[in-house]
Amino acid sequence: MRPTRFINLALVLWAICAPLAVAAESGAEWWRKAVVYEVYPRSFADSNGDGIGDLNGITNHLDYLKDLGVDAIWITPFYPSPQVDFGYDISNYHAIDPQYGTLADFDRLLEEAKKRDIRVVLDMVLNHTSDQHPWFLESKSSRDNPKAEWYMWHDGKDHQPPNNWQSIFGHSAWQWTPERGEFYYHAFYKEQPDLNWRNREVRSAMYDELRFWMKKGVAGFRLDAVTSLFEDPQFRDEPIARPGKNAFGEPILTRQYTDNLPECHDVFRELRQVTNEFPGGVLIGETYLPNIAELEKMYGAHDDELHLPMDTQFGFTKLSADAFRQKLREAETQLNGHMPLFFFDNHDNPRSLSRYGDGTHNEAIAKLLATLLLTPRCAALLYYGQEIGMENNDPQRKEDVRDPVGRTGWPKDKGRDGERTPMQWDASVNAGFSTAKTTWLPAAPNYKQRNVAAENTHPDSLLNYYKALLRLRKTNTALRDGEFALVNESDKNVLAFVRKAGGQTVLVALNFTSMPKTVSFDLPAGHRAITLLSSFSKTGESNNLKRLELPPFGAFVGQIQ
Ligand code: GLC
Repeated sequence: MRPTRFINLALVLWAICAPLAVAAESGAEWWRKAVVYEVYPRSFADSNGDGIGDLNGITNHLDYLKDLGVDAIWITPFYPSPQVDFGYDISNYHAIDPQYGTLADFDRLLEEAKKRDIRVVLDMVLNHTSDQHPWFLESKSSRDNPKAEWYMWHDGKDHQPPNNWQSIFGHSAWQWTPERGEFYYHAFYKEQPDLNWRNREVRSAMYDELRFWMKKGVAGFRLDAVTSLFEDPQFRDEPIARPGKNAFGEPILTRQYTDNLPECHDVFRELRQVTNEFPGGVLIGETYLPNIAELEKMYGAHDDELHLPMDTQFGFTKLSADAFRQKLREAETQLNGHMPLFFFDNHDNPRSLSRYGDGTHNEAIAKLLATLLLTPRCAALLYYGQEIGMENNDPQRKEDVRDPVGRTGWPKDKGRDGERTPMQWDASVNAGFSTAKTTWLPAAPNYKQRNVAAENTHPDSLLNYYKALLRLRKTNTALRDGEFALVNESDKNVLAFVRKAGGQTVLVALNFTSMPKTVSFDLPAGHRAITLLSSFSKTGESNNLKRLELPPFGAFVGQIQ
């Protein structure tokens, strides 16, 4: 892997004058520069009017995704499921839940996506199954059935759980089972028992589930909760992490005995071998980790583990030039040259505009975030609706909450419904998501103004900005293949960097403040930048880099002349 260079102002000269050859990515490595669009199928498009999105709904909107310019879609779980955790509790890994459609619908989705050069990535939940999965039903039936050791069973102590481990979703992580007279461990809901990944049979059964989908032609997997696969074999109590109580009113514990155990890497290597059986398969990891050093390990010492572990540090940092500069610097210098995977939004966290918007400059902030996500050297995840500026619409009353996290955590934690509301397609009823009387979650009230149809007609809309950015990422050599280097590194207000390849240099400048800022780039006299895309300057405009004026939260991408 090539070491990444960090340069100062003086070296911008080098960046301009010394063309660097960057090898083109082979087809099998499509994921390196990919933009993967997350579809939450329940909320994307409802084709049969039952108020719940479905696979045919996704197929019906593939032209939209093609036009947007994404390389792949990641579809969150659509397998048969009791839907306790809206699909993340799977009761059959190789079928489709009837509420989302059929295998034939899936095959058609795959075929139509292929026609449009859109790859399909599935969500694979390895850590746990549903408590209704036949594996678990068998495992819990007795202590001596063939699958008795497939889950994490423990006698406990005097009918009490064996230790203080907590579920991520609140309360004890142990559930008593009268049939076996034992407890089982669940990192998430009690309806999501953890599989025993030390059991070889579990591993090979799960690898076969992956093969089932790879044989159909999916382009890989987003691996759910993949750092939670193993627990301490001595079942030691977790120490208190810090004083205070969590949203569920319980002590805040570390997860040192239940998360990111070294054995995870053995499984990652095996998963990589399974995907290697199908060229082009990608492994995206849901890797919430404490620091960049831990993230680096996820790629594997020999580049033989996850292709794209999610950099969960990046998209949650505070809105400041320094903070994001530091994250970019870390990703460039501490990932051993691997490709970082950045994102701001997903189905588990409040939408970025709700986290970063100030209510006055939301449109500019959304464009700034889009530019920050799509112009560094990275692969990126988008979440449905991010491209039109959807915001959270959290439930107002506990009785309206659908996500059990919100019911357990209310009112401190209102759960994840707010970021899962229906895609806002147009200004018609239910935002054009569904013709049903009621939908599983209501459309956010702002849908009449903020929707795909409206934004398509406004040349300066966020949607058109995203489209232009995604196009640029593909067509501009420097943005596509270029090295990355920070510039003006001591500027507290404006984050700037260059991308350079094949004799082209592109400058990106982002004003992280609510005040206009004028920046000077110490480039040879006469150097100017032609606007490629900007939230304030027209494409094709020539700008003096000695005095580049950025309005509040202004974003600028320009080709240096
Ligand atoms: C992951 C999913 C989340 C789910 C959890 C348990 O974090 O993204 O939605 O609830 O795993 O499967």
